[in-house]
Amino acid sequence: MKDKIVVVTGASKGIGAGISKELAHLGATVVLCSRNIEKLKKLKAQIEKEGGIAHVFQLDVSSVSQIENVFGGIHDEFGRIDVLINNAGLGNNHAALDVKEMDWDEMMSINLKGLFFCSQQAGKYMIKNGYGRIVNISSQASLVAIKDHAVYCASKGGVNLLTKVLALEWAEKGITVNAIAPTFTYTPGTAERLDNPDYLKNVLNRIPVGKVATIRDIAAAIIYLAGPNSGMVTGSNLVIDGGWTIK
Ligand SMILES: NC(=O)c1ccc[n+]([C@@H]2O[C@H](COP(=O)([O-])OP(=O)(O)OC[C@H]3O[C@@H](n4cnc5c(N)ncnc54)[C@H](OP(=O)(O)O)[C@@H]3O)[C@@H](O)[C@H]2O)c1
Repeated sequence: MKDKIVVVTGASKGIGAGISKELAHLGATVVLCSRNIEKLKKLKAQIEKEGGIAHVFQLDVSSVSQIENVFGGIHDEFGRIDVLINNAGLGNNHAALDVKEMDWDEMMSINLKGLFFCSQQAGKYMIKNGYGRIVNISSQASLVAIKDHAVYCASKGGVNLLTKVLALEWAEKGITVNAIAPTFTYTPGTAERLDNPDYLKNVLNRIPVGKVATIRDIAAAIIYLAGPNSGMVTGSNLVIDGGWTIK
């Protein structure tokens, strides 16, 4: 990853923050994006203290005009974008009968619309450079139904097919587009659920390896797909679920 310009959306906490640190350790220049600029600045300081290089851009991925401005700004500053990790996402859930229009619109605008337009902007600059890696953080919920997750499952199912279409459109341009599909991973986004012993027990019963994923498990897959040696892998969805979806 040395000297690669790597944009990570939703970098302020959880998986996004963890993978940003791992990528910086490998020599990438990480461009941290999310809405909470103060958290991003703290992460940047932490990365720099450990000898890495990080920059911050405030970005709400539900706004297409913000995406255009921020990716334009990143390109102006660095002259290229080598890697995009589309990680920003919401994971809250409701029983299908309780979903309001607002819930649908909010989740779709972040998990699916935002991911598409970030890819479009990064893809535009990657095509100019003849090289690029896009890694979309999907979910096991893109592959199997999970009760009370109708909107989430729909958004992540959409991510999988977008991944294939973009991979097909941009394969000849030197760009690969892949997804990963993690199982439950302990982050601020899942802490409330996983800290409930009954919920955790139910989750672990469904994971044959008997444990939830760690951010390092996720980072290892991303590092492979975002790196220069994965050029023959495109349109794939690497499942990191400890076996949840094989049953
Ligand atoms: N944790 C899991 O078990 C799990 C499993 C499978 C897939 N995933 C996926 O992995 C990704 C990260 O999950 P996580 O558990 O790390 O979540 P998290 O702890 O809740 O963090 C979510 C991140 O997304 C950012 N974000 C949310 N809305 C945004 C917006 N409108 N614009 C820009 N950034 C936004 C947040 O930053 P700001 O608040 O600063 O904007 C935050 O950095 C998501 O796509 C999730 O669906 C997670």
